[in-house]
Amino acid sequence: MTSPRRIHPNRYKGNPHGDRSRRHSSFDNNHAGLSLGSRDVIVAGQWVVLGRIGEGSFGEIFEVRDINTHRHYAIKRERRKENGGSQLKHENVMYDVLAGGDGIPQCHWYGHFDGFTCIVMDLLGPSLGQLAQSVSCMELDIATDLVSQMVSIVEHIHSRGVILRDVKPENFVFGAHLPPLYNDNDGVKPTCKQVFQDYWCTNDPKLYAIDFGLTCYWRDPHTGVAYSDTKKHIRDKTGTARYASIQVHRGNLPSRRDDLESIGYILLDLVLGGRLPWAGVHAKNSKAGWDKVWRVKVDTPLSELCAGLPQAVVDFIAYTRSLRFMDQPDYDRLRGFLHAAAAGPDHYNQPDQIVTSPPPLSNETDDDHYELFAMDDMKHHLPTVPETPKKVGWNTHKRLDMTDWTND
Ligand SMILES: Nc1ncnc2c1ncn2[C@@H]1O[C@H](COP(=O)(O)OP(=O)(O)O)[C@@H](O)[C@H]1O
Ligand SMILES: [Mg+2]
Repeated sequence: MTSPRRIHPNRYKGNPHGDRSRRHSSFDNNHAGLSLGSRDVIVAGQWVVLGRIGEGSFGEIFEVRDINTHRHYAIKRERRKENGGSQLKHENVMYDVLAGGDGIPQCHWYGHFDGFTCIVMDLLGPSLGQLAQSVSCMELDIATDLVSQMVSIVEHIHSRGVILRDVKPENFVFGAHLPPLYNDNDGVKPTCKQVFQDYWCTNDPKLYAIDFGLTCYWRDPHTGVAYSDTKKHIRDKTGTARYASIQVHRGNLPSRRDDLESIGYILLDLVLGGRLPWAGVHAKNSKAGWDKVWRVKVDTPLSELCAGLPQAVVDFIAYTRSLRFMDQPDYDRLRGFLHAAAAGPDHYNQPDQIVTSPPPLSNETDDDHYELFAMDDMKHHLPTVPETPKKVGWNTHKRLDMTDWTND
């Protein structure tokens, strides 16, 4: 077993035992002390900006300190738009709708500052995406445990009438007490178990969901009646192609089933060490990228996709794919698959009612919009000026120009 000190020689300094009482900051900043300097940025007279800790395709995240309590929080900001539209405003509403659930951070303040719309929320730690990047492999029992937590968090979100629509490892984060992770490309990466035991000093770190910017209601929040499938074809895809469900690739309206299918792809991604067959697909633009990923997803039989993995993993994904638009997912059953996958084949009786073959690209019974999509595709494939293929993220978020909150 590789010694963690050899893997992250500097990361362990001052924290050889993963001291959980210490809050770990993932930025280098000499303003982390308690005194206020004249150049400190203080949001709304209360939150001292300490440094930037993250960014997604849409927002930037800073660590802040409450000047009264000295507690640390995270602030997410979005530049204010002239038309008044705001994803963070929507996110703030969703924090209220989802409040109180296990794995849902608390929102402490929402407002405007310095040309930005801001949310102050609980400070959290490294993301599942960062963990996946910094380990050589993730053991099946760890992956199934983390994914089981995700199923429970998503169950809570669905129970409040909401779907996430952007389920990906970067949108699930661990607690703030866990030390930051470093993706040391030159060194030997530790296994996930090594990180947990030797660096984080925990066997079961808790996950939290963040980023509710793309959430929407699957049922009417006033009447509680589920929205039915409008059969509207969606051309501009929402979410992240790598984890998108096949129905979302088709341009169908997302519902609860699609969040769960995405969780299935995360499970695979974690245990395959990022080697999903559609990972690393190159395309000249987002539309072409989404289409290529879609093709690989439907062309790869589940048995091949999950080769060498327990049957319960196949069944997890097959079950999520078998759900219809309005179906109430059986979250216990999904957790059961995960439990069985970790327990081994001796503890598993395969359910026989799940079809394990992937849905075909066409001739799908509940997809009478395939024709329309095919026509859109043809329009899209009219000759264009050749471009150099590039690797693109295929997020639908638009990255905004953002100025810095300089504080040094
Ligand atoms: N409350 C938080 N505490 C610590 N880190 C966070 C927090 N919220 C977000 N982050 C980090 O910032 C990244 C981007 O945040 P996110 O809300 O997903 O932004 P976006 O909407 O742009 O995708 C996350 O992947 C995570 O690493
Ligand atoms: Mg995000």
